[in-house]
Amino acid sequence: MNKVNVKDLDVKGKRVLLRVDLNVTLNKHGEIIEENKMRSSLPTIKYLSEQGAIVIMASHLGRPQGQPVEELRLDPVAKELAEMLGKPVYKTDKVVGEEPLKALEMLKSGDILMLENIRFHPGETTNDPELARQYAQLADIYVNDAFGTSHRAHASTVGVAELLPAAAGLNMEREIIMMSKILESPERPLVAILGGTKVADKIELINHLLDVVDFLLIGGGMANTFFRAQGVDMGKSFVEEDKVQAAEEILARTKNKKANLVLPVDFIAASEASENSDQKVVAPDSVPSDWMALDIGPETVQKFKEILKTARTVIWNGPLGMFEIEDFAQGTMETARFIADLEAVKVIGGGDVVAAVEKAGVAEKMTHISTGGGAALEFWEGKELPALSVLPEKVTV
Ligand code: 3PG
Repeated sequence: MNKVNVKDLDVKGKRVLLRVDLNVTLNKHGEIIEENKMRSSLPTIKYLSEQGAIVIMASHLGRPQGQPVEELRLDPVAKELAEMLGKPVYKTDKVVGEEPLKALEMLKSGDILMLENIRFHPGETTNDPELARQYAQLADIYVNDAFGTSHRAHASTVGVAELLPAAAGLNMEREIIMMSKILESPERPLVAILGGTKVADKIELINHLLDVVDFLLIGGGMANTFFRAQGVDMGKSFVEEDKVQAAEEILARTKNKKANLVLPVDFIAASEASENSDQKVVAPDSVPSDWMALDIGPETVQKFKEILKTARTVIWNGPLGMFEIEDFAQGTMETARFIADLEAVKVIGGGDVVAAVEKAGVAEKMTHISTGGGAALEFWEGKELPALSVLPEKVTV
């Protein structure tokens, strides 16, 4: 990665606007239940503060559609961050304007301020030039550490980057290095696992991966659509009817591709998507007509393990079943634990699967847990990330 990095800049005494991705998962009590994004943001915040910058953090939380939503205020995030950093994190109730400007006058070198959820402002997601100008007015330097939003051309990711001296943060740099290494020069065999419900989100990714990976293992609800494409009746399982054709085309294309596309050989099917419903292991073509497939079955887990144990590199996006319900979490959890113990490069991306890996207690054993969901997918698809492109390149002499 050849972008100007936060360490290339003299930040002492400067106001630095730091775009972070603290779009964390909250439970129904508003408590943070996902630590990865918080933890990954710490090195750049600490670095800037220790170098004597005044740090102004900007993040979104959820998708509040340009107006304040009480449950999406960043106060709990600021509080948790302050605990992790062991120093105060001041917070404004407004995104831009007089309040943050006044707050900044009170701050000294090393202090940290968090702006209110920037998506409370309607100009954020539309990349409004006036909002970008107001962000720029707050700071001398802009640093983007939010890999998770690098696929979004918003005022805080692109607009303001064009107005201030800009650099990539340490998390952004690490993400780009790790993600690029995997697809450009992976140790082989390279095995990709894709799960989650929707084929729609992943058609381009699947097509791209089929050219570069050795095995592509498919689980989760999206596998159902592939079976429907082969004429299998999946009972009441979730199937994206409008993507059956796309799944059919992918299956046809795999015949000439390098990769082996591997679908489940059995499922845990249930009468209902709930704990303690009637459940049994079935072959894909034997899902009872009023039942649904909700997890990969034991034979599939075994088959995936046989392939995974040959892997030198593994990338994984999307859970393999409805893991939020204990009865259908087995496939995802067992696969997570198996991957964790492999002697391979193991990269995990996407909020749900990151949560699953954390729940399985094996996050520390992974080589890299990406902070990007959609951003990781787009990067792996080979798409340009606008918030990264806008950051200046290092000048080499
Ligand atoms: C993420 O969680 O993937 C990022 O924070 C981006 O969020 P968004 O999809 O709402 O832009």
